[in-house]
Amino acid sequence: MTSPDFMEKIVSLAKRRGFIFQSSEIYGGLNGAWDYGPLGCELKRNVKNAWWQSVVHYREDVVGLDASILMHPKTWEASGHTANFADMMVDCKNTKCSRRLRADQLNKGKCPFCGGSEFTDERAFNLMLQTNLGAMQDSSSVVYLRPETAQGIFVNFANVIDSTHRKLPFGIAQIGKSFRNEITPGNFTFRTREFEQMEIEYFCKPEEASDKYREWIQARFNWYIGLGMKKENLKLREHGQEELAHYAAGCTDVEYNFPFGWSELEGIANRGDYDLKQHAKFSGKDLQYQDPLTNEKFFPHVIEPSGGCDRATLAFLVDAYHEETVNDAVRVVMKFHPALSPVKVAVLPLLKKNEGIVRLARKIKSELQKDMVCVYDDTAAIGKLYRRQDEVGTNFCVTVDVQSLEDNQVTVRDRDTMRQERVSLEGLAGYLKERLR
Ligand code: GAP
Repeated sequence: MTSPDFMEKIVSLAKRRGFIFQSSEIYGGLNGAWDYGPLGCELKRNVKNAWWQSVVHYREDVVGLDASILMHPKTWEASGHTANFADMMVDCKNTKCSRRLRADQLNKGKCPFCGGSEFTDERAFNLMLQTNLGAMQDSSSVVYLRPETAQGIFVNFANVIDSTHRKLPFGIAQIGKSFRNEITPGNFTFRTREFEQMEIEYFCKPEEASDKYREWIQARFNWYIGLGMKKENLKLREHGQEELAHYAAGCTDVEYNFPFGWSELEGIANRGDYDLKQHAKFSGKDLQYQDPLTNEKFFPHVIEPSGGCDRATLAFLVDAYHEETVNDAVRVVMKFHPALSPVKVAVLPLLKKNEGIVRLARKIKSELQKDMVCVYDDTAAIGKLYRRQDEVGTNFCVTVDVQSLEDNQVTVRDRDTMRQERVSLEGLAGYLKERLR
C-alpha cells in the first residue's frame, strides 16, 4: 500500500465510521477545520483523559488549569507573538497560478504547484487570528484567539503558587483550543487552523533544568508507547542550534511516522527563564519564586512538553489501522489500546425478535455501561456486526443467544484474536474489566 493510498484509507474510514468529518461539509467545507463525529469525539476525549491522568492525576508535582482563550493583548507582546509569530510568504508570479506560499515550501526555488520560478519578495505574515471585543470595531478592541495554551499558564503562575503553596519543582498542565491562521493547512487533521493542545509548563531551579528536560522527553515518549503506539513509528529528534529560539537551551520533538512522512507530534523545550521574565517586565508584577528555605528570589526555569490532541489522535488512528485476510475477505481492524478505543464492548442479540434474548441483552448492556462504554446493536447479521465493531476498534463483542437463556452464559469475542469464549453472566464484568486494563 503506498502512503497516499494509506492516508486515503484513513480519511475514508474516519468519515464512513464517524470519526472525523470535514467542517461545514454541506457548504463545501472550510479549509483547515474538521469536526469529530460520534466515535471521533470519544477517541479524542480518551486521548485527553489518558494525558491528563498521566501528567496530572498520576503525579504529585503537576496541577491542572483551564485558562480562557481570549487574553489581554499585552500577553502576546510579552510572549513575542505580536512581533515574531509569523511565516515568511511569497506569491507565485505566474498569473495562472498566483498562489501564496510559505517561502520554505518552494521546491528547489520552484513553485510546487505550477513549477514557476518567479516570486514576490518575502513578507512576514502573522499567524495569530484576531477578533474584536465589545461594541467598537477598531484597533482599541482587537484581541487574539490564543495561538498556544502556554501563555495562559505563565500569566497564572503567581495565582497557582499563591493558591496551592507549591514548591519547586512543579508543573501546570492545560488542555485547550488554540488557533493559528496557517497558510497551508493540510494532511487531514495534522495541520489545522483550530486545534487543541496539551501543554505543561514545568517550573524548576535553574540547576535542575537539564535533568528535568531529559526526564520529560523520556516520560512523553513513553506515554505514546504505553498507549500501544508502535515503537518503530516513533522517534526523538533533537533540534539543531540554528532551530532554537535565542533563549532556549534545547528542544526535542517526538516524531511519528505518518503516511506523509516523519512529522512532529509534540515538542519538549527547555525554555530557560524567558517567559516569566517577559511577563514580569510587561505586567510590572513580581513573578519571581521565593525559596522558602533560603528566602532567595529568582525566576524559575521552564521545561515545556507541548503536544497536539488532534495530531496525537490522528497518529493513534493511523497506528491502530490493521488489515488482514480472513476467509478470502479483507478484515479491517482498528487495534486501539483499551484506554483509547471509543467503545469497549458491543452487546449483540443473536436473534433480535426473540424477546428473552433481547431482554437479557439489554440488561447486560445496562449493567456493563456503569463500568465501560458499551453499545447495543441488532441491525445486521452477527458476522456483519462483528466486522463493523472490528472496524471501529471495539475491544469485545458479547453475543447473547438462546443457550444464554438456559445456562446464563454469553459468547465473548476478542477483537484482535477473534477467539470466542463462553463466559458466565456472573463473572462477565470482571472478565472484561481485567482484559480492558
Ligand atoms: N507552546 C509551544 C507551542 O505551541 P508548537 O510546536 O507551535 O509549540 C505544539 O505547538 C504542538 O501543538 C505541536 O507539536 C502540534 O502537536 C500542535 N500543533 C501546532 N500547530 C498545529 C496545527 N496548526 N494543527 C494541529 N496541531 C498543531
